[in-house]
Amino acid sequence: MVKKIGILTSGGDAPGMNDAIFGAIRTCYKLDKEIYAIYGGYKGLIDDNIVKLDKNFADTLINRGGTAIKTARLPEFKEDKVQYEAIETLKKHGIEALIVVGGDGSYMGAKKLTEKGINCIGLPGTIDNDISSTETTIGFDTALNTVVEAIDRIVDTSSSHNRCAVVEVMGNKCPDLTLFAGIATGANYILTADNNVNVDKMIEELKELKKTNPDHVLILVAEKLLDTAALAKRIMDETGFDTRETVLGHIQRGGTPTAMERVNSIRMGAYAVELLDKGIGGVCIGTKGYELIYTDIYDALNLERDKHEDFYYTHDLIK
Ligand code: ADP
Ligand code: F6P
Repeated sequence: MVKKIGILTSGGDAPGMNDAIFGAIRTCYKLDKEIYAIYGGYKGLIDDNIVKLDKNFADTLINRGGTAIKTARLPEFKEDKVQYEAIETLKKHGIEALIVVGGDGSYMGAKKLTEKGINCIGLPGTIDNDISSTETTIGFDTALNTVVEAIDRIVDTSSSHNRCAVVEVMGNKCPDLTLFAGIATGANYILTADNNVNVDKMIEELKELKKTNPDHVLILVAEKLLDTAALAKRIMDETGFDTRETVLGHIQRGGTPTAMERVNSIRMGAYAVELLDKGIGGVCIGTKGYELIYTDIYDALNLERDKHEDFYYTHDLIK
Protein backbone atom coordinates (compact mmCIF):
# COMPACT_ATOMS: atom_id res chain seq x y z
CA MET A 1 0.00 0.00 0.00
CA VAL A 2 1.41 3.41 -0.93
CA LYS A 3 2.29 5.58 2.02
CA LYS A 4 3.80 8.68 0.36
CA ILE A 5 2.17 10.42 -2.61
CA GLY A 6 3.51 13.39 -4.59
CA ILE A 7 1.47 15.97 -6.47
CA LEU A 8 2.55 18.44 -9.16
CA THR A 9 0.90 20.90 -11.54
CA SER A 10 2.40 21.20 -15.03
CA GLY A 11 1.94 23.24 -18.23
CA GLY A 12 -0.42 26.24 -18.20
CA ASP A 13 -2.06 26.90 -14.82
CA ALA A 14 -5.84 26.65 -14.55
CA PRO A 15 -8.45 27.67 -11.95
CA GLY A 16 -9.39 24.54 -10.02
CA MET A 17 -5.83 23.23 -9.67
CA ASN A 18 -5.77 24.34 -6.02
CA ASP A 19 -9.06 22.52 -5.48
CA ALA A 20 -7.62 19.30 -6.89
CA ILE A 21 -4.73 19.72 -4.48
CA PHE A 22 -7.22 20.25 -1.63
CA GLY A 23 -9.11 17.05 -2.55
CA ALA A 24 -5.88 15.06 -2.73
CA ILE A 25 -4.56 16.37 0.59
CA ARG A 26 -7.76 15.66 2.50
CA THR A 27 -8.01 12.14 1.07
CA CYS A 28 -4.38 11.38 1.84
CA TYR A 29 -4.85 12.39 5.45
CA LYS A 30 -8.08 10.41 5.71
CA LEU A 31 -6.36 7.29 4.33
CA ASP A 32 -3.35 7.81 6.57
CA LYS A 33 -0.88 8.78 3.83
CA GLU A 34 1.66 11.57 3.49
CA ILE A 35 1.45 13.99 0.59
CA TYR A 36 4.29 16.01 -0.92
CA ALA A 37 4.16 18.97 -3.27
CA ILE A 38 6.60 18.93 -6.16
CA TYR A 39 6.98 22.67 -6.76
CA GLY A 40 7.16 23.84 -10.39
CA GLY A 41 5.94 20.77 -12.26
CA TYR A 42 8.46 18.25 -13.57
CA LYS A 43 11.20 20.83 -13.08
CA GLY A 44 10.67 20.47 -9.32
CA LEU A 45 11.61 16.80 -9.63
CA ILE A 46 14.90 17.69 -11.26
CA ASP A 47 15.63 20.57 -8.86
CA ASP A 48 14.48 18.50 -5.85
CA ASN A 49 11.98 21.17 -4.88
CA ILE A 50 9.74 18.99 -2.71
CA VAL A 51 7.84 19.91 0.46
CA LYS A 52 5.55 17.81 2.68
CA LEU A 53 2.04 19.29 2.75
CA ASP A 54 0.19 20.01 5.92
CA LYS A 55 -3.44 18.86 6.19
CA ASN A 56 -4.63 22.46 6.06
CA PHE A 57 -2.31 23.68 3.28
CA ALA A 58 -5.07 24.23 0.73
CA ASP A 59 -7.94 25.25 3.03
CA THR A 60 -7.76 28.93 2.09
CA LEU A 61 -6.84 28.20 -1.53
CA ILE A 62 -10.19 26.65 -2.48
CA ASN A 63 -11.38 29.93 -4.01
CA ARG A 64 -8.04 30.94 -5.56
CA GLY A 65 -7.13 30.63 -9.23
CA GLY A 66 -3.64 29.64 -10.41
CA THR A 67 -1.67 26.95 -8.64
CA ALA A 68 -0.11 27.39 -5.21
CA ILE A 69 2.52 24.73 -5.95
CA LYS A 70 3.63 26.57 -9.10
CA THR A 71 3.89 25.20 -12.61
CA ALA A 72 6.50 25.10 -15.33
CA ARG A 73 7.32 23.69 -18.72
CA LEU A 74 10.38 21.46 -19.00
CA PRO A 75 10.82 20.32 -22.63
CA GLU A 76 13.78 18.07 -21.65
CA PHE A 77 11.39 15.87 -19.68
CA LYS A 78 10.75 13.99 -22.93
CA GLU A 79 14.20 12.44 -22.53
CA ASP A 80 14.51 9.06 -20.75
CA LYS A 81 17.64 10.25 -18.96
CA VAL A 82 15.76 13.19 -17.37
CA GLN A 83 12.84 10.94 -16.40
CA TYR A 84 15.28 8.60 -14.59
CA GLU A 85 16.68 11.61 -12.72
CA ALA A 86 13.11 12.41 -11.60
CA ILE A 87 12.63 8.81 -10.41
CA GLU A 88 15.83 9.06 -8.37
CA THR A 89 14.55 12.23 -6.64
CA LEU A 90 11.22 10.57 -5.85
CA LYS A 91 12.97 7.48 -4.46
CA LYS A 92 15.23 9.68 -2.32
CA HIS A 93 12.09 11.09 -0.64
CA GLY A 94 10.39 7.69 -0.48
CA ILE A 95 7.57 8.96 -2.73
CA GLU A 96 5.97 5.92 -4.34
CA ALA A 97 3.22 7.47 -6.49
CA LEU A 98 2.42 10.77 -8.16
CA ILE A 99 -0.59 12.89 -9.15
CA VAL A 100 0.07 15.03 -12.24
CA VAL A 101 -2.36 17.85 -12.96
CA GLY A 102 -1.82 19.14 -16.50
CA GLY A 103 -2.58 18.78 -20.19
CA ASP A 104 -1.71 16.13 -22.75
CA GLY A 105 2.05 16.85 -22.63
CA SER A 106 2.03 16.40 -18.88
CA TYR A 107 0.03 13.17 -19.29
CA MET A 108 2.82 11.78 -21.48
CA GLY A 109 5.35 12.50 -18.74
CA ALA A 110 3.06 10.76 -16.22
CA LYS A 111 2.83 7.66 -18.41
CA LYS A 112 6.60 7.52 -18.88
CA LEU A 113 7.18 7.71 -15.11
CA THR A 114 4.60 4.96 -14.57
CA GLU A 115 6.46 2.76 -17.05
CA LYS A 116 9.64 3.44 -15.09
CA GLY A 117 8.11 2.24 -11.82
CA ILE A 118 6.26 5.17 -10.21
CA ASN A 119 2.47 4.90 -10.53
CA CYS A 120 1.07 8.22 -11.80
CA ILE A 121 -2.48 9.48 -12.22
CA GLY A 122 -3.19 12.36 -14.62
CA LEU A 123 -5.82 15.00 -13.86
CA PRO A 124 -6.96 17.17 -16.81
CA GLY A 125 -5.70 20.63 -15.87
CA THR A 126 -6.13 23.14 -18.69
CA ILE A 127 -8.58 25.90 -19.54
CA ASP A 128 -8.55 24.76 -23.18
CA ASN A 129 -10.81 21.68 -22.74
CA ASP A 130 -8.61 19.87 -25.23
CA ILE A 131 -8.49 16.49 -23.47
CA SER A 132 -10.88 14.01 -25.02
CA SER A 133 -11.00 11.54 -22.15
CA THR A 134 -13.07 13.96 -20.08
CA GLU A 135 -16.18 16.01 -20.75
CA THR A 136 -14.69 18.97 -18.94
CA THR A 137 -11.16 19.86 -17.93
CA ILE A 138 -10.11 21.59 -14.71
CA GLY A 139 -10.27 25.31 -15.58
CA PHE A 140 -12.66 25.19 -18.53
CA ASP A 141 -15.86 26.19 -16.72
CA THR A 142 -14.19 29.08 -14.91
CA ALA A 143 -12.41 30.35 -18.03
CA LEU A 144 -15.65 30.10 -19.99
CA ASN A 145 -17.46 32.22 -17.40
CA THR A 146 -14.60 34.74 -17.41
CA VAL A 147 -14.73 34.99 -21.20
CA VAL A 148 -18.50 35.45 -21.18
CA GLU A 149 -18.32 38.13 -18.50
CA ALA A 150 -15.60 39.99 -20.41
CA ILE A 151 -17.58 39.83 -23.65
CA ASP A 152 -20.75 41.05 -21.90
CA ARG A 153 -18.77 44.12 -20.85
CA ILE A 154 -17.45 44.65 -24.36
CA VAL A 155 -21.01 44.41 -25.68
CA ASP A 156 -22.18 47.09 -23.20
CA THR A 157 -19.83 49.60 -24.74
CA SER A 158 -20.04 48.25 -28.27
CA SER A 159 -23.83 48.48 -28.40
CA SER A 160 -23.75 52.03 -27.02
CA HIS A 161 -21.93 53.04 -30.21
CA ASN A 162 -23.55 50.57 -32.60
CA ARG A 163 -20.09 49.14 -33.14
CA CYS A 164 -18.66 45.85 -34.29
CA ALA A 165 -16.51 44.04 -31.71
CA VAL A 166 -13.99 41.46 -32.82
CA VAL A 167 -12.86 39.42 -29.80
CA GLU A 168 -10.02 36.91 -29.84
CA VAL A 169 -10.51 34.05 -27.36
CA MET A 170 -7.61 32.01 -25.99
CA GLY A 171 -7.68 28.24 -26.24
CA ASN A 172 -4.61 27.13 -28.14
CA LYS A 173 -5.73 24.78 -30.94
CA CYS A 174 -9.03 23.90 -29.25
CA PRO A 175 -12.07 26.01 -30.21
CA ASP A 176 -14.28 25.03 -27.24
CA LEU A 177 -13.95 28.28 -25.27
CA THR A 178 -14.68 30.30 -28.41
CA LEU A 179 -17.59 28.12 -29.45
CA PHE A 180 -19.29 27.87 -26.06
CA ALA A 181 -18.77 31.59 -25.35
CA GLY A 182 -20.12 32.46 -28.81
CA ILE A 183 -23.39 30.73 -28.03
CA ALA A 184 -23.58 32.18 -24.51
CA THR A 185 -23.13 35.75 -25.81
CA GLY A 186 -25.26 35.52 -28.95
CA ALA A 187 -22.30 36.20 -31.23
CA ASN A 188 -23.09 36.94 -34.87
CA TYR A 189 -20.08 34.93 -36.05
CA ILE A 190 -17.91 32.29 -34.37
CA LEU A 191 -14.67 31.71 -36.24
CA THR A 192 -12.81 28.50 -35.36
CA ALA A 193 -10.70 25.90 -37.14
CA ASP A 194 -13.71 23.56 -37.06
CA ASN A 195 -16.33 25.64 -38.86
CA ASN A 196 -14.15 27.23 -41.51
CA VAL A 197 -16.10 30.48 -41.93
CA ASN A 198 -15.57 32.08 -45.34
CA VAL A 199 -14.33 35.57 -44.40
CA ASP A 200 -15.11 37.11 -47.82
CA LYS A 201 -18.70 35.90 -47.54
CA MET A 202 -18.89 37.19 -43.96
CA ILE A 203 -17.76 40.65 -45.12
CA GLU A 204 -20.50 40.70 -47.78
CA GLU A 205 -23.10 39.67 -45.16
CA LEU A 206 -21.85 42.38 -42.79
CA LYS A 207 -22.32 45.00 -45.54
CA GLU A 208 -25.96 43.94 -45.82
CA LEU A 209 -26.37 43.87 -42.03
CA LYS A 210 -25.04 47.45 -41.80
CA LYS A 211 -28.01 48.63 -43.82
CA THR A 212 -30.34 47.43 -41.02
CA ASN A 213 -28.48 49.53 -38.39
CA PRO A 214 -28.07 46.71 -35.81
CA ASP A 215 -27.55 47.43 -32.11
CA HIS A 216 -24.08 45.87 -32.29
CA VAL A 217 -22.15 43.15 -34.04
CA LEU A 218 -20.09 40.54 -32.20
CA ILE A 219 -17.50 38.33 -33.85
CA LEU A 220 -15.47 35.78 -31.86
CA VAL A 221 -12.19 34.47 -33.23
CA ALA A 222 -10.29 31.48 -31.83
CA GLU A 223 -6.69 32.15 -30.88
CA LYS A 224 -4.09 31.25 -33.54
CA LEU A 225 -6.71 31.06 -36.31
CA LEU A 226 -5.98 34.33 -38.09
CA ASP A 227 -4.67 37.87 -37.59
CA THR A 228 -7.48 39.35 -35.48
CA ALA A 229 -6.22 42.94 -35.83
CA ALA A 230 -6.10 42.62 -39.61
CA LEU A 231 -9.62 41.18 -39.65
CA ALA A 232 -10.96 44.08 -37.55
CA LYS A 233 -9.30 46.58 -39.88
CA ARG A 234 -10.75 44.88 -42.92
CA ILE A 235 -14.27 44.96 -41.41
CA MET A 236 -13.83 48.64 -40.58
CA ASP A 237 -12.54 49.49 -44.08
CA GLU A 238 -14.98 47.41 -46.11
CA THR A 239 -18.29 47.27 -44.24
CA GLY A 240 -18.64 50.73 -42.69
CA PHE A 241 -18.95 49.30 -39.17
CA ASP A 242 -16.95 51.22 -36.59
CA THR A 243 -14.93 48.25 -35.36
CA ARG A 244 -12.79 47.53 -32.29
CA GLU A 245 -10.64 44.52 -31.57
CA THR A 246 -9.94 42.92 -28.16
CA VAL A 247 -7.57 40.06 -27.40
CA LEU A 248 -8.70 38.55 -24.07
CA GLY A 249 -5.40 36.73 -23.46
CA HIS A 250 -4.30 35.70 -19.98
CA ILE A 251 -7.20 37.41 -18.22
CA GLN A 252 -9.02 34.19 -19.16
CA ARG A 253 -6.69 32.00 -17.11
CA GLY A 254 -6.97 33.66 -13.72
CA GLY A 255 -9.77 34.19 -11.23
CA THR A 256 -11.91 32.44 -8.68
CA PRO A 257 -12.94 28.92 -9.70
CA THR A 258 -16.68 28.51 -10.23
CA ALA A 259 -18.64 26.30 -7.84
CA MET A 260 -18.84 23.45 -10.39
CA GLU A 261 -15.10 23.77 -11.05
CA ARG A 262 -14.42 23.35 -7.36
CA VAL A 263 -16.72 20.35 -7.03
CA ASN A 264 -15.22 18.56 -10.05
CA SER A 265 -11.63 19.37 -9.14
CA ILE A 266 -11.92 18.39 -5.47
CA ARG A 267 -13.59 15.11 -6.44
CA MET A 268 -10.91 14.38 -9.05
CA GLY A 269 -8.12 15.06 -6.55
CA ALA A 270 -9.74 12.72 -4.04
CA TYR A 271 -10.34 10.02 -6.66
CA ALA A 272 -6.69 10.14 -7.77
CA VAL A 273 -5.57 9.22 -4.26
CA GLU A 274 -8.13 6.39 -4.11
CA LEU A 275 -6.86 4.95 -7.40
CA LEU A 276 -3.22 5.15 -6.31
CA ASP A 277 -4.20 3.44 -3.07
CA LYS A 278 -5.58 0.55 -5.14
CA GLY A 279 -2.26 0.29 -7.02
CA ILE A 280 -3.62 1.80 -10.25
CA GLY A 281 -1.32 4.00 -12.36
CA GLY A 282 -0.75 5.22 -15.94
CA VAL A 283 -4.35 6.41 -16.21
CA CYS A 284 -6.06 9.79 -16.30
CA ILE A 285 -9.27 10.85 -14.64
CA GLY A 286 -12.19 12.46 -16.43
CA THR A 287 -15.81 13.42 -15.93
CA LYS A 288 -18.79 11.85 -17.69
CA GLY A 289 -21.77 13.79 -16.47
CA TYR A 290 -21.39 13.67 -12.70
CA GLU A 291 -19.53 10.38 -12.84
CA LEU A 292 -15.74 10.17 -12.54
CA ILE A 293 -14.06 7.80 -14.97
CA TYR A 294 -10.50 6.79 -15.73
CA THR A 295 -8.79 5.92 -19.00
CA ASP A 296 -5.36 4.57 -19.90
CA ILE A 297 -3.24 7.61 -20.81
CA TYR A 298 -2.17 6.27 -24.23
CA ASP A 299 -5.82 5.53 -25.09
CA ALA A 300 -6.81 8.99 -23.86
CA LEU A 301 -4.20 10.68 -26.05
CA ASN A 302 -5.43 8.76 -29.09
CA LEU A 303 -9.09 9.69 -28.69
CA GLU A 304 -10.57 11.95 -31.34
CA ARG A 305 -11.55 15.43 -30.16
CA ASP A 306 -15.29 16.11 -30.00
CA LYS A 307 -15.86 18.97 -32.45
CA HIS A 308 -19.31 19.71 -31.03
CA GLU A 309 -20.88 19.97 -34.47
CA ASP A 310 -24.34 20.18 -32.90
CA PHE A 311 -23.26 23.40 -31.16
CA TYR A 312 -22.43 25.01 -34.53
CA TYR A 313 -25.78 23.81 -35.81
CA THR A 314 -27.53 25.51 -32.88
CA HIS A 315 -25.57 28.68 -33.54
CA ASP A 316 -26.65 28.70 -37.18
CA LEU A 317 -30.26 28.29 -36.07
CA ILE A 318 -30.21 31.17 -33.61
CA LYS A 319 -28.03 33.73 -35.36
P1 ADP B 1 0.31 20.64 -21.25
O1 ADP B 1 0.60 19.56 -20.27
O2 ADP B 1 -0.54 21.73 -20.70
O3 ADP B 1 -0.14 20.12 -22.59
P2 ADP B 1 2.89 21.02 -22.30
O4 ADP B 1 2.60 20.36 -23.60
O5 ADP B 1 3.75 22.24 -22.28
O6 ADP B 1 1.61 21.43 -21.50
O7 ADP B 1 3.55 19.93 -21.40
C1 ADP B 1 3.90 20.21 -20.06
C2 ADP B 1 5.16 19.49 -19.71
O8 ADP B 1 4.98 18.08 -19.81
C3 ADP B 1 6.32 19.79 -20.64
O9 ADP B 1 6.96 21.01 -20.35
C4 ADP B 1 7.20 18.61 -20.35
O10 ADP B 1 7.87 18.80 -19.11
C5 ADP B 1 6.20 17.47 -20.18
N1 ADP B 1 6.04 16.72 -21.44
C6 ADP B 1 5.49 17.18 -22.59
N2 ADP B 1 5.55 16.24 -23.57
C7 ADP B 1 6.16 15.16 -23.00
C8 ADP B 1 6.54 13.86 -23.49
N3 ADP B 1 6.30 13.48 -24.75
N4 ADP B 1 7.16 13.02 -22.63
C9 ADP B 1 7.40 13.39 -21.35
N5 ADP B 1 7.09 14.60 -20.84
C10 ADP B 1 6.48 15.48 -21.64
O1 F6P C 1 -2.94 25.87 -22.56
C1 F6P C 1 -3.42 27.00 -21.92
C2 F6P C 1 -3.05 28.26 -22.68
O2 F6P C 1 -3.55 29.36 -21.93
C3 F6P C 1 -3.52 28.33 -24.12
O3 F6P C 1 -4.88 28.65 -24.22
C4 F6P C 1 -2.60 29.38 -24.67
O4 F6P C 1 -2.44 29.22 -26.08
C5 F6P C 1 -1.32 29.12 -23.93
O5 F6P C 1 -1.65 28.39 -22.76
C6 F6P C 1 -0.57 30.36 -23.53
O6 F6P C 1 0.62 29.97 -22.93
P1 F6P C 1 1.57 30.99 -22.14
O7 F6P C 1 0.97 31.24 -20.80
O8 F6P C 1 2.87 30.26 -22.06
O9 F6P C 1 1.64 32.26 -22.95
